[in-house]
Amino acid sequence: MASKRTIGRFIFQTWNSKPISTPRIGSPSLNRLRMSSTATAVASEAETAAAQKSYQIVQDTGNFDEIQAKRPDFDHSKPIEVTKSPNPNWEYGQGVPDNGASLAQKHHEIDPYASDRPMINNYRLLISGIAPRPVGFLSTVNPKGEKNLSPFSYFQVIDHDPPMFIVGFSSRPGRVKDTYRNLRETGECVINTVSENMIEAVNASSIDAPYGVSEWDVSGLHEAPSRTVKPSRVAESVFNIEGKVVDIKEFTDHQQPGMSLAATVLIKATRFWVKEGTANEDYSHIDLEKLRPVGQLGGMSYGRITSTFEHPRKKWSDEVPKSDILAKLDDGKPEK
Ligand SMILES: Cc1cc2nc3c(=O)[nH]c(=O)nc-3n(C[C@H](O)[C@H](O)[C@H](O)COP(=O)(O)O)c2cc1C
Repeated sequence: MASKRTIGRFIFQTWNSKPISTPRIGSPSLNRLRMSSTATAVASEAETAAAQKSYQIVQDTGNFDEIQAKRPDFDHSKPIEVTKSPNPNWEYGQGVPDNGASLAQKHHEIDPYASDRPMINNYRLLISGIAPRPVGFLSTVNPKGEKNLSPFSYFQVIDHDPPMFIVGFSSRPGRVKDTYRNLRETGECVINTVSENMIEAVNASSIDAPYGVSEWDVSGLHEAPSRTVKPSRVAESVFNIEGKVVDIKEFTDHQQPGMSLAATVLIKATRFWVKEGTANEDYSHIDLEKLRPVGQLGGMSYGRITSTFEHPRKKWSDEVPKSDILAKLDDGKPEK
């Protein structure tokens, strides 16, 4: 029953890196929270049921099995081809060298908050338009030690010094994502990479299992011990990152009736693990042929990399003497 798993609509404006314990329904601490100025009332059963009705993130896929059966097999042995870049003779100031073809259409303006625009349209637009997205496969535990494993593609590495990551947790009817709850309560996780050969198991672990049910068992993936955090690493992944939560931002001002809070979590790495045989000698570069990353695309699509191209980055001081455009822009500017 949805209401049984509802954990309330907590509001934490800031998060001070100490784990916050999340009270359970009916517990004295939840009642305290209800009274406190930092929390609103728990979503009612009716609100949650209404939200559930209009929540269409997991779509009916109709005759997907039939369609899938007609498609060519996945070629596991396909090598990654390296080609020339799309326009190898591109010059400074040239934009897109397609004789204006990419400027032919106007843009359609959208207010994402318009009262007649359903949330699902923003969801579909964003996951199809911001693609491919890497999948952060997060292993967490709750304070009782119960394990969780789920994929998130509102995910990115955002710096290397210190190594920092961000994960976005969407609202859903009634209860926050279990991974988010665990991060908030324990402050720890392992971020695991997703390779092609793992995708069925990873996708399966996104099922909306009840709080406390381990998706390790749903997926059949294997645990490896971590060094600096409690949650296990995914042994099948090429790259595991142990991490601790450094900040949380909850979008309290946008919470809809019956829906849990949406939040983003900032995670700082505490340890790296790279599978032997997948990187160079000093473990500074992972081989793409070994990583075989999967990107999430729009709808229910995933993408693989079968072709790459290279493009060196340039230095202003080297390029100015070679380009009239850069020389003009550089004229009179202080030396770099
Ligand atoms: C590839 C993939 C990427 C996903 N990305 C996100 C995401 O970025 N944010 C999110 O809230 N849910 C995302 N989901 C859905 C969650 O995985 C799903 O809600 C899951 O049940 C959450 O598990 P938990 O409640 O055990 O944490 C994604 C699902 C898949 C299959």
